[in-house]
Amino acid sequence: MLVFAKIKSVQQKIKSLKKGTSIGFVPTMGALHKGHLSLIEQAKKENDIVVVSIFINPTQFNKQEDLVNYPKTIDSDLSLLKSVYCDIVFTPSAEEIYNNNIISQLFNFDGLEHQMEGKFRDGHFDGVGTIVKRLFEIVTPTKSYFGEKDFQQLQIIRKMVEKNQIHTKIIGCEIYREDDGLAMSSRNSRLTKEHRAIAPFIYKTLKKAKKEFGIKNAQEVISWVENEFKKQPLLELEYFEIADEETLHPIKNKDPKQKYRAFIAVFAGKIRLIDNISL
Ligand code: PAF
Repeated sequence: MLVFAKIKSVQQKIKSLKKGTSIGFVPTMGALHKGHLSLIEQAKKENDIVVVSIFINPTQFNKQEDLVNYPKTIDSDLSLLKSVYCDIVFTPSAEEIYNNNIISQLFNFDGLEHQMEGKFRDGHFDGVGTIVKRLFEIVTPTKSYFGEKDFQQLQIIRKMVEKNQIHTKIIGCEIYREDDGLAMSSRNSRLTKEHRAIAPFIYKTLKKAKKEFGIKNAQEVISWVENEFKKQPLLELEYFEIADEETLHPIKNKDPKQKYRAFIAVFAGKIRLIDNISL
């Protein structure tokens, strides 16, 4: 496994690959868990080589505190990547990526950025767009892999690729869950024991909401979920929305031709968790 911190070196390596070599790319912010490894395993199966980036991107954090507290586990990340036979790891510094000018490019994602997470995390998607576009330019991947846990991010990246005519195929990968249903996330390691114990309630409620959606209208399901969380003092519901998978607009009337998804954001103490389910 080769590890590069400099843009020039990783680009040189990529340029030296035999013509036609397919590159699977998994961008990450480190603190790797089984969810990331499943993306890498899929990328391995579908490409000649796999590149993983580890970069905690400052411009996508709307709270400085979250950036400072983001888990940094580079040594264990590198051994995990070795264990799944990752070929190339790119670990740039902020200076290398942003050249002492740590600001986001401003994007228009046709309104996807104003829904759900966009209402609560100002500038977050400009930060994500900025880094992902930059990484695509550096790595020139054939296929790029993103987890569906961040479904809004996945749709926004699809939009960015389409609007900027970037030649990489975006692959959305199913949410990887703990045995008790909690969606895997680097943030889970920061939950207190009490919050970790109650956190599976989020997915349990999503599954029940999916059933309810079969027999109730969207507003009734939303009210039902909001009530369930009111009974749960350790979890604070930030939003629960049912939205069209393509546009991410909140549902108005159920249309059997449309695909819907339920999206949720919850505070477990200080830790903000998100999840979603296809309906
Ligand atoms: O999903 C993430 O971990 C990050 O948002 C990403 C895509 C690596 C960009 O920093």
